[in-house]
Amino acid sequence: MTRVEFPKLEPDRHWLVTGGAGFIGSHLVEHLLLTGQRVRVVDNYATGKKANIEAVLALVGKECAGRLELLEGDIRDKSLCERALLGVDYVLHQAALGSVPRSFVAPLETHSANVSGFLTLLQSARELSERVGGERGSTLRSFVYASSSSVYGDHPELPKSEDNLGNVLSPYAASKRSDELYASAFQSVVPFPIVGLRYFNVFGPRQDPEGAYAAVIPRWIETLRKGEECVVFGDGETSRDFCFVENVVLANVLAATKANKRELAQVVNVAGGEKTSLTELHRIIVNNFVSLGLSPKEKVNHEAFREGDVRHSLADIERIQELYGYLPRVDVRDGIARTVRSFLE
Ligand SMILES: NC(=O)c1ccc[n+]([C@@H]2O[C@H](COP(=O)([O-])OP(=O)(O)OC[C@H]3O[C@@H](n4cnc5c(N)ncnc54)[C@H](O)[C@@H]3O)[C@@H](O)[C@H]2O)c1
Repeated sequence: MTRVEFPKLEPDRHWLVTGGAGFIGSHLVEHLLLTGQRVRVVDNYATGKKANIEAVLALVGKECAGRLELLEGDIRDKSLCERALLGVDYVLHQAALGSVPRSFVAPLETHSANVSGFLTLLQSARELSERVGGERGSTLRSFVYASSSSVYGDHPELPKSEDNLGNVLSPYAASKRSDELYASAFQSVVPFPIVGLRYFNVFGPRQDPEGAYAAVIPRWIETLRKGEECVVFGDGETSRDFCFVENVVLANVLAATKANKRELAQVVNVAGGEKTSLTELHRIIVNNFVSLGLSPKEKVNHEAFREGDVRHSLADIERIQELYGYLPRVDVRDGIARTVRSFLE
């Protein structure tokens, strides 16, 4: 696999990472601090954890830690968004309520955080950029936000390419599709490029393994670590394009620094570009435990398919490669090996 290097960043640029105490956000913060950037995090700790930030600070060391600013609060609070955006060069917007099942249980909360929150941040960025010449003039170079592969809904095409969308199958997917529509509506009235990254099943260290809404990889690793049997929803042939979090960090940094205003409200897939069934995934995780000298429970228990889940998902990653030079740096097997080790440490 050709290994794409992270772009060299100009020192001391200022980044806003919303949702920076979450799984993906904390990896963005870690990379940016390690590469000499200044980072402001906004998080209300709805699903994120202070422990994630503490883990990042321990990893990056004291010198880098001084370039981090934490703002505890909600992206639906406009005055907080205005404060958070001051002097910022790049926005990486991650804050949202994830999970398809949660969105059926709490559709209003999902809409409020994911759509109203997104719009509040985008409108604040727009207003700030309109105050050009004033003391509070915006320096914003790009606004990158987390969308999701769920927007493809029931479209049968595989691999999934950006222009072929189906009907959305969950309130969560509807919220991410709404963000893309607002981004498109705003692109002609803001001076900075807006880029939506459609993440496909991201995984890696620090992903939350607990609770009803946990993603499959951390949930299974934790289940096997406890010596229990994993549950598979459906027959195990459901497949996903699992993407290691380092690839997502690369995609964000590339999109933020290479996006061009002429590309109107671009949306691109971010994925590993390979398909893995749940049965294969379980086998890979189990093998990693075995290679570490452990004896995990290999039997799985099948339960009914979950509402709103798509059957197969695989990304076409040509567009992000062409526009920003992205290629995945870490494949599923390496990513899982790194993730299992980090959970067991
Ligand atoms: N993990 C994946 O596989 C995946 C796939 C597709 C899209 N995404 C998207 O990527 C982004 C990050 O996901 P993640 O997996 O890191 O989830 P996460 O839950 O770990 O992180 C989300 C963060 O946003 C914060 N947050 C939520 N609502 C907020 C609000 N109103 N104000 C301020 N902060 C708020 C949470 O406290 C949390 O720290 C989300 O937008 C998610 O929808 C993730």
